[in-house]
Amino acid sequence: MSKWVEGRVVGKRRWTERLHSLQVDAPGVTFVAGQFGRLALPAPPGSVEDMIGRPYSFVNPPGAGPHEFYFITLPDGPLTPRLAALEPGERVWLLPRANGFFSVSEVPPADVLWCLATGTGIGPFLSILRTDLPWQKFRRVVLVHAVRHPEELTYRNVVATIAAAHTGAFTAIPVVSRAAHPDALPGRIPDLIGDGRLEARAGLALTAGNAHAMLCGNPAMIEDTQKVLAARGMRRHRRREPGHITVETYW
Ligand SMILES: Cc1cc2nc3c(=O)[nH]c(=O)nc-3n(C[C@H](O)[C@H](O)[C@H](O)COP(=O)(O)OP(=O)(O)OC[C@H]3O[C@@H](n4cnc5c(N)ncnc54)[C@H](O)[C@@H]3O)c2cc1C
Ligand SMILES: NC(=O)c1ccc[n+]([C@@H]2O[C@H](COP(=O)([O-])OP(=O)(O)OC[C@H]3O[C@@H](n4cnc5c(N)ncnc54)[C@H](OP(=O)(O)O)[C@@H]3O)[C@@H](O)[C@H]2O)c1
Repeated sequence: MSKWVEGRVVGKRRWTERLHSLQVDAPGVTFVAGQFGRLALPAPPGSVEDMIGRPYSFVNPPGAGPHEFYFITLPDGPLTPRLAALEPGERVWLLPRANGFFSVSEVPPADVLWCLATGTGIGPFLSILRTDLPWQKFRRVVLVHAVRHPEELTYRNVVATIAAAHTGAFTAIPVVSRAAHPDALPGRIPDLIGDGRLEARAGLALTAGNAHAMLCGNPAMIEDTQKVLAARGMRRHRRREPGHITVETYW
């Protein structure tokens, strides 16, 4: 258990039956906006490992405690139902160092940053967009949150705070796929890019010439979106071979 840092739950929010946020006080745990940490609980007796740990993106910006994590419960998952059942005052364990390259410092310069998320994949963008760097680096930022049902359009208060702080530079676009919703575009991200509706709503182009796209969440969305963007000459960004797409796949 020694590599783990003991944290304490200081807050929780149940957004829907399946969507939850946990606030965790864990001094000494550091990260760069966009990175993920690891949350863990003791494994059941008889398990090979001492702890069951899984990666989770930080939702809070660096330096602004407590740490916050946003997750969906998978009913048969070994960890998420237990995380959702934690109450303030209870312990949860974290790794002291965060990981990952899903950060704006890794993204090459562009005119517009497109942040494309499904479900809980909005988490790292809420951290990134509450730091200064994206606003120094890009003229415009678009955040797309795609969910199945309207009640899964969570963190709208945080998105509104970001919008208020960056008037004229920020556009938030909700997408709801399985119900009609007055504010949201219907359908899926790749289709909305393919037929131009997402760009029309943002009033901005999404091209290899002007944009960088950060994609987070459902691996099928990430795969399908990359295909649509590839047709526009956009390719994965790598340190050795700069490109236009950065991804974080959750499963
Ligand atoms: C880099 C990284 C960052 C991540 N950050 C987050 C995060 O911020 N929030 C979060 O909810 N999850 C996140 N995940 C997924 C998370 O680590 C776990 O896999 C998930 O919480 C399920 O854990 P479990 O032990 O309950 O079930 P598991 O047995 O680990 O997973 C069961 C199955 O559920 C599906 N699944 C896993 N995660 C998700 C998800 N987020 N949404 C929909 N289906 C999923 C997959 O098909 C998976 O095989 C991240 C994963 C990675 C690789
Ligand atoms: N959210 C729920 O009410 C619910 C209920 C039961 C089980 N679950 C399970 O919980 C997990 C996560 O659910 P979730 O709703 O958070 O995430 P999700 O299944 O990833 O859905 C989030 C959004 O991503 C879209 N999407 C799915 N595949 C896509 C693709 N290939 N390209 C583009 N967009 C795509 C969905 O559209 P579509 O609606 O068109 O698929 C939806 O709008 C899943 O494993 C799911 O089976 C969720």
